[in-house]
Amino acid sequence: MNILIVNGPNLNLLGRREPSIYGSRSFDDYLDELRAAYPDVALTYFQSNHEGAIIDCLHENGFGDIDGIVLNAGAYTHTSLAIADAIAAINTPVVEVHISDVMKREPIRHHSMIRKVCVACYAGFGLDSYRRGIDHIINAKK
Ligand code: DQA
Repeated sequence: MNILIVNGPNLNLLGRREPSIYGSRSFDDYLDELRAAYPDVALTYFQSNHEGAIIDCLHENGFGDIDGIVLNAGAYTHTSLAIADAIAAINTPVVEVHISDVMKREPIRHHSMIRKVCVACYAGFGLDSYRRGIDHIINAKK
Protein backbone atom coordinates (compact mmCIF):
# COMPACT_ATOMS: atom_id res chain seq x y z
CA MET A 1 0.00 0.00 0.00
CA ASN A 2 1.20 3.50 -0.89
CA ILE A 3 0.12 6.51 1.13
CA LEU A 4 1.23 10.10 0.65
CA ILE A 5 1.16 12.68 3.44
CA VAL A 6 0.97 16.29 2.27
CA ASN A 7 1.54 19.17 4.66
CA GLY A 8 0.75 22.74 3.69
CA PRO A 9 1.99 26.13 4.84
CA ASN A 10 3.84 26.62 8.11
CA LEU A 11 3.73 22.92 8.93
CA ASN A 12 7.48 22.72 8.22
CA LEU A 13 7.78 24.58 11.53
CA LEU A 14 6.09 21.87 13.61
CA GLY A 15 7.92 21.55 16.91
CA ARG A 16 8.84 25.23 16.88
CA ARG A 17 5.57 26.82 15.79
CA GLU A 18 3.12 27.76 18.57
CA PRO A 19 3.89 24.60 20.60
CA SER A 20 0.92 25.20 22.90
CA ILE A 21 -1.33 24.55 19.88
CA TYR A 22 0.71 22.25 17.66
CA GLY A 23 3.02 20.47 20.12
CA SER A 24 6.77 20.41 20.40
CA ARG A 25 7.55 17.49 18.10
CA SER A 26 8.95 17.94 14.60
CA PHE A 27 7.10 16.24 11.77
CA ASP A 28 10.26 14.43 10.65
CA ASP A 29 10.48 12.82 14.07
CA TYR A 30 6.81 11.81 13.96
CA LEU A 31 7.21 10.49 10.42
CA ASP A 32 9.89 8.05 11.64
CA GLU A 33 7.39 6.74 14.21
CA LEU A 34 4.66 6.40 11.57
CA ARG A 35 6.96 4.52 9.19
CA ALA A 36 7.94 2.13 11.98
CA ALA A 37 4.27 1.62 12.92
CA TYR A 38 3.25 0.81 9.33
CA PRO A 39 6.02 -1.39 7.93
CA ASP A 40 3.77 -2.61 5.11
CA VAL A 41 2.88 0.89 3.94
CA ALA A 42 5.16 2.93 1.70
CA LEU A 43 4.69 6.34 3.30
CA THR A 44 5.87 9.27 1.22
CA TYR A 45 5.88 12.85 2.41
CA PHE A 46 5.63 16.27 0.78
CA GLN A 47 5.46 19.71 2.37
CA SER A 48 5.14 23.09 0.75
CA ASN A 49 4.26 26.61 1.79
CA HIS A 50 3.00 27.31 -1.74
CA GLU A 51 -0.54 26.68 -2.94
CA GLY A 52 0.48 25.86 -6.52
CA ALA A 53 3.13 23.38 -5.38
CA ILE A 54 0.51 21.54 -3.30
CA ILE A 55 -1.81 21.45 -6.32
CA ASP A 56 1.00 20.13 -8.54
CA CYS A 57 1.74 17.43 -5.96
CA LEU A 58 -1.94 16.39 -5.90
CA HIS A 59 -2.00 16.22 -9.70
CA GLU A 60 1.23 14.21 -9.86
CA ASN A 61 0.04 11.67 -7.30
CA GLY A 62 -3.67 11.65 -7.99
CA PHE A 63 -3.83 9.36 -11.00
CA GLY A 64 -1.28 6.67 -10.22
CA ASP A 65 -0.53 4.01 -7.68
CA ILE A 66 -0.95 6.05 -4.51
CA ASP A 67 -3.85 4.50 -2.56
CA GLY A 68 -4.69 7.60 -0.54
CA ILE A 69 -3.48 11.03 0.45
CA VAL A 70 -3.52 12.43 3.99
CA LEU A 71 -3.65 16.21 3.61
CA ASN A 72 -3.16 18.91 6.18
CA ALA A 73 -3.64 21.97 4.00
CA GLY A 74 -2.96 24.33 6.91
CA ALA A 75 -4.55 27.73 6.44
CA TYR A 76 -5.30 26.93 2.78
CA THR A 77 -8.02 24.67 4.19
CA HIS A 78 -10.03 27.77 4.92
CA THR A 79 -9.30 29.71 1.72
CA SER A 80 -8.37 27.58 -1.24
CA LEU A 81 -11.01 26.77 -3.82
CA ALA A 82 -8.08 25.84 -6.08
CA ILE A 83 -6.92 23.04 -3.75
CA ALA A 84 -10.54 21.89 -3.38
CA ASP A 85 -10.82 21.75 -7.19
CA ALA A 86 -7.59 19.75 -7.40
CA ILE A 87 -8.88 17.21 -4.86
CA ALA A 88 -12.13 16.91 -6.82
CA ALA A 89 -10.19 16.46 -10.06
CA ILE A 90 -7.97 13.56 -9.01
CA ASN A 91 -8.87 9.90 -8.60
CA THR A 92 -6.98 9.25 -5.37
CA PRO A 93 -9.05 9.66 -2.18
CA VAL A 94 -7.92 12.46 0.12
CA VAL A 95 -8.39 12.54 3.91
CA GLU A 96 -8.35 16.00 5.52
CA VAL A 97 -6.48 16.21 8.81
CA HIS A 98 -5.72 18.93 11.36
CA ILE A 99 -3.59 18.79 14.46
CA SER A 100 -5.73 21.28 16.37
CA ASP A 101 -9.47 21.20 16.90
CA VAL A 102 -10.31 23.85 14.32
CA MET A 103 -13.97 23.94 15.40
CA LYS A 104 -12.92 25.16 18.85
CA ARG A 105 -10.71 27.93 17.48
CA GLU A 106 -11.47 31.26 15.78
CA PRO A 107 -14.61 31.25 13.60
CA ILE A 108 -12.52 31.80 10.45
CA ARG A 109 -11.08 28.29 10.99
CA HIS A 110 -14.50 26.64 11.24
CA HIS A 111 -15.08 26.56 7.51
CA SER A 112 -13.18 24.12 5.33
CA MET A 113 -13.11 24.66 1.58
CA ILE A 114 -11.95 21.07 1.11
CA ARG A 115 -14.26 19.14 3.47
CA LYS A 116 -16.84 18.23 0.82
CA VAL A 117 -14.27 16.81 -1.59
CA CYS A 118 -12.39 14.78 1.01
CA VAL A 119 -13.48 11.29 2.06
CA ALA A 120 -13.04 12.00 5.79
CA CYS A 121 -11.72 14.53 8.28
CA TYR A 122 -9.77 14.00 11.51
CA ALA A 123 -9.09 17.11 13.56
CA GLY A 124 -8.08 17.84 17.12
CA PHE A 125 -6.13 14.69 17.91
CA GLY A 126 -2.70 16.31 17.77
CA LEU A 127 -0.28 14.47 15.49
CA ASP A 128 -2.43 11.37 15.96
CA SER A 129 -4.83 12.92 13.42
CA TYR A 130 -2.37 11.75 10.72
CA ARG A 131 -2.38 8.18 12.04
CA ARG A 132 -6.17 8.20 12.03
CA GLY A 133 -6.09 9.43 8.44
CA ILE A 134 -3.76 6.60 7.46
CA ASP A 135 -5.99 4.05 9.21
CA HIS A 136 -8.98 5.43 7.33
CA ILE A 137 -7.26 4.81 3.99
CA ILE A 138 -6.14 1.31 5.02
CA ASN A 139 -9.62 0.36 6.29
CA ALA A 140 -11.31 1.72 3.16
CA LYS A 141 -9.12 -0.60 1.05
CA LYS A 142 -10.05 -3.75 3.01
C1 DQA B 1 -4.11 23.39 11.04
C2 DQA B 1 -5.26 24.34 11.42
C3 DQA B 1 -5.31 25.53 10.49
O1 DQA B 1 -6.35 26.40 10.84
C4 DQA B 1 -3.99 26.29 10.56
O2 DQA B 1 -4.01 27.36 9.64
C5 DQA B 1 -2.81 25.42 10.35
C6 DQA B 1 -2.79 24.10 10.97
C7 DQA B 1 -3.97 22.24 12.05
O3 DQA B 1 -3.30 21.27 11.72
O4 DQA B 1 -4.49 22.31 13.16
O5 DQA B 1 -1.83 25.83 9.76
O6 DQA B 1 -4.41 22.81 9.77
